[in-house]
Amino acid sequence: MEKKKIGITETVLRDAHQCLMATRMRLEDMLPILSTLDAIGFDSVECWGGATFDACVRFLGEDPWERLRAIKKSMPNTPLQMLLRGQNILGYRHYADDVVEKFVELSAANGIDIFRIFDALNDVRNLQTSLKAVKKAGKEAQLVLAYTISDVHTIDYYVRLAQTMEGMGADSICIKDMAGILTPAHGYELVSRLKEAIHLPVIVHTHSTSGVSYMTYESAVRAGADRIDTAISPFSEGTSQPATESIVIALKEEGYEIPLDMDSLQEAANHFRKIKDKYLDDGLLNPKMLTPDPRALIYQVPGGMLSNMTSQLQQANALDRYEDVLTEVPKVRAELGFPPLVTPLSQMVGTQATMNVITGERYKVVSNEIKSYLAGEYGKSPVEIDEDFRRSIIGDTKVISDRPADHLSSEFTSLQEEIGSLAKNEEDVLIYALFPEVGKEFLENRAKKNDELVKVSGYL
Ligand code: CO
Repeated sequence: MEKKKIGITETVLRDAHQCLMATRMRLEDMLPILSTLDAIGFDSVECWGGATFDACVRFLGEDPWERLRAIKKSMPNTPLQMLLRGQNILGYRHYADDVVEKFVELSAANGIDIFRIFDALNDVRNLQTSLKAVKKAGKEAQLVLAYTISDVHTIDYYVRLAQTMEGMGADSICIKDMAGILTPAHGYELVSRLKEAIHLPVIVHTHSTSGVSYMTYESAVRAGADRIDTAISPFSEGTSQPATESIVIALKEEGYEIPLDMDSLQEAANHFRKIKDKYLDDGLLNPKMLTPDPRALIYQVPGGMLSNMTSQLQQANALDRYEDVLTEVPKVRAELGFPPLVTPLSQMVGTQATMNVITGERYKVVSNEIKSYLAGEYGKSPVEIDEDFRRSIIGDTKVISDRPADHLSSEFTSLQEEIGSLAKNEEDVLIYALFPEVGKEFLENRAKKNDELVKVSGYL
């Protein structure tokens, strides 16, 4: 019998360090090993999008576009993958269609081959524009089932959703289990049902947060999954993904075909071991993140959200309220109509739960994001929100029920005018568009640095 080939997506350059150390890995940590990574033969390497763009601009003083071009240059043979938040792009609000289209066009032009596109609410209307733009650029459009558990998020729900996505023209479907709550049994059932119902590659993305991820992958692969996401061992486990090397060795022994270069994989692992030690010493990588926490199965709280809530509590000098916040999260979530806990809703729900606990009065402080969400600006919540609850927070604010972006007029040109000569190209305009404050600061700092360089060279 012919062996079934299992594809591997390596996440060390994006999700792994996003979850373990707040997305702080620098390009200089990656550059020396990129050509080795390229030689391994991964089906794709996730290296951009998610929070990397934000971290580059906000914390690292790195141009995210330059990072992408540098990776592409060193990795010409491996499909590069990014995580795109649909109409939110990589920011925290809805953008007009023309900005989404421009972002996809330039991401493709700068090196992205596979766009994994998701909407936090699984509202497919929020995926339409990016999907069309990816198709136009001739790249792979991978649409996401944001996995969560609730009364409405049944296996039937996800099968119907995947069928809708296939009908929309998706090239592949990813089960995105950000919280690491996909158990082996549910994973088996979900993948089996999807393989029966749709005719597209099924990719499974999980996290080791709750400690069941290796079993989940094995079940998913047995059920017919075509590709899985793993992280090279030094950046694996905990809030990250299962270890690439371990998964590959185990699945090969079970008779699956995974044609990766194991020597190059070892070499890359050695490199990242040193990088990891550096960040452990710096304190950026908290060893706490590496221990499985089965509470994720109870609270359904993704790793990134756990670390955000910890740091918010730390800032408020209230770390002792951690358990209270964990208990508050499911309550807030139910009141908000059971949104899946994925970005940006995970942050919104997490922050609201933290505020409810810290202030001692529920919904005394409510973020503008939650208010916009309640006004329908993010799309449709999976379950109707109680009208009295909604009114108690947003009063008589108009609630929209159609595609949120239909209410937004084109904005790229006005953004371009706003930022003016600070933007040297359209990529710069998008830095400003996504992060108006820190993006502008980033562009100003860069301009200052360039002026200094001109001065210095003038004296020479
Ligand atoms: Co993830």
